[in-house]
Amino acid sequence: MVIVGAFWGDEGKGKIVSYLAKHDRLDVCVRTGSVNAAHTVWLKGRRYALHMVPAAFVHEKCRLLVGAGANIQLSQFMKEVEETNVRDRIGVDPQASIIEEKHSIQDKTKAHLKGLGTTGWGVGPAIEERVARTAKIVRDVAKLQPYLVDVSREVNDAIDKDKNVLLEGTQGLLLSLFHGSYPYVTGRDTSASAVCSEVGVGPTKIDDVLLVFKSFITRVGTGPLPGELTMEEAKKRRCFETAAGTGRERRSAPFNFKLAKKAVMINGATQAALTKLDILFPQCRGARDYDRLQEDAKRFVAKIEEMTGVAVVLIGTGPEVLDVVDRRR
Ligand code: IMP
Ligand code: MG
Repeated sequence: MVIVGAFWGDEGKGKIVSYLAKHDRLDVCVRTGSVNAAHTVWLKGRRYALHMVPAAFVHEKCRLLVGAGANIQLSQFMKEVEETNVRDRIGVDPQASIIEEKHSIQDKTKAHLKGLGTTGWGVGPAIEERVARTAKIVRDVAKLQPYLVDVSREVNDAIDKDKNVLLEGTQGLLLSLFHGSYPYVTGRDTSASAVCSEVGVGPTKIDDVLLVFKSFITRVGTGPLPGELTMEEAKKRRCFETAAGTGRERRSAPFNFKLAKKAVMINGATQAALTKLDILFPQCRGARDYDRLQEDAKRFVAKIEEMTGVAVVLIGTGPEVLDVVDRRR
């Protein structure tokens, strides 16, 4: 299965991946993208904002991998490996790129990138170097030698053995370099096909593409946001957020059915998850049973299904890993 975000990132992919890891007992989870994206996981009252380690770390038997198309920020990788205690079960592809200090400096000082409101981690400039074929890659870094593994081989072997494998996409479709609101986008394609490509898995090997929607839309950085709410209005509707990674204030807007349809189409989504339903409908908080949702919350879910043609199989009702209504049963 591939998991991707529908809008401008921050849909709550971390929450959904961690739920699937525990509930479905995932065997393998592969992280793609880079350190600019933070996936938030709440586990036993503790909050993790993961920039490098796959969110499936919460399931202790899950093998964790970082694909060849990813960009590794060494100090953040090491820090998270310590924090999540996954040294013995994480592997990194030797061909993944390295983000160096100079890339972060370029990201923060180039006027053009500042204008886009990049995260400043240096991901765009690191990708530029990869395209120029001057980038340092994982196999060149001494500290990463203990983690080296042929990720595409390991993942394809696991799929052939019918193991439960999840490819963890990052950001959202509308930040895609190709399909997003260019030039106000990130430096990579964020669609499901690109996730497969970054890991090294062919499209015929994928059973499901799970598209993650949030019950409202948020965006950090500059660029268009249809239906944007003022900060006061966003606070009133309880959908004002700050970024998990950079701490920046997020802009917000109501759910957008037209954009949802586009994300379903380009990702070839077969299923959807809807997060933070409890923000729009506070009585849903902590619900784990569909029948516990209010009628207007159920109507909202039904409307998404009707407008997009995709079943909403998982519904997030609170921050903890298991605060989910699972309709797959
Ligand atoms: P960059 O990816 O750091 O180059 O930033 C480019 C644009 O993508 C900026 O608007 C960032 O705020 C946005 N962006 C990058 N990664 C994420 C993410 O994980 N969540 C939300 N926005 C992101
Ligand atoms: Mg995020």
